Amino acid sequence: MIQFTQVHKSYQGIEALSALTFEIEAGELVFIAGRSGAGKSTLLKLVAAIERPSAGTVNVAGQNVGRMKNKGIPYLRRNLGLIFQDQKLLLDRSVLANVLLPLMVVGTAPKDAARRARAALDKVGLLERERASPLSLSGGDQQRLAIARAIVNRPSVLIADEPTANLDREAALRVLEIFRDFNRVGVTVLIATHDRALFTGLSPHVIELEGGRLASGGSAPSSPP
Ligand SMILES: Nc1ncnc2c1ncn2[C@@H]1O[C@H](COP(=O)(O)OP(=O)(O)OP(=O)(O)O)[C@@H](O)[C@H]1O
Ligand SMILES: [Mg+2]
Repeated sequence: MIQFTQVHKSYQGIEALSALTFEIEAGELVFIAGRSGAGKSTLLKLVAAIERPSAGTVNVAGQNVGRMKNKGIPYLRRNLGLIFQDQKLLLDRSVLANVLLPLMVVGTAPKDAARRARAALDKVGLLERERASPLSLSGGDQQRLAIARAIVNRPSVLIADEPTANLDREAALRVLEIFRDFNRVGVTVLIATHDRALFTGLSPHVIELEGGRLASGGSAPSSPP
């Protein structure tokens, strides 16, 4: 589903990722681990074609996204649910309106859009708050809202950068449980986090980065006999 082959990424001559080769299969739940500056966010941005590799190939669902023409990127992203810290919620709109937005962008009929947005809110446990302002939500609930917005177009891959930052352990575990629910129904999930304690035991596949290099986790561990 996602293959990196000898990927390098440098910013102004400084190498953020070096000779990175790994593979993620469809349906996996994968954690991207490593200290601050290890290259986790850069890896996720390459998958979503927010950044382009300096060398090597990034393949997502059979497409070489590192070389994709700009006009192909919206189609790629339609298949990806993205949860990045710089994607702000619309604070002057309701919870429901925030989830409707990605559907409006792709021209979903209003009646369909409302039904799907409510279904997405229901999946993350926020349906009762549909009329609320995002400002009135707790940090954990705001993160749930970001997840609902990311999954409303039914992407096959969900990508989240530090989705549990700023949450206490209990709220963080509840948010992780939502990702696991989507993974259980077949969505491929990539989560970057520096918080190792959080995901220990949750997935056999952890891609560990150290100074932009792969420390472990190049491919999915084979299932036990
Ligand atoms: N836009 C950019 N311009 C210049 N350097 C960058 C840019 N983005 C990232 N870097 C550098 O690339 C390296 C990897 O950064 P990245 O954000 O991918 O790490 P990270 O593992 O996500 O860290 P954190 O845990 O702090 O989020 C760091 O040295 C960082 O300073
Ligand atoms: Mg980061």
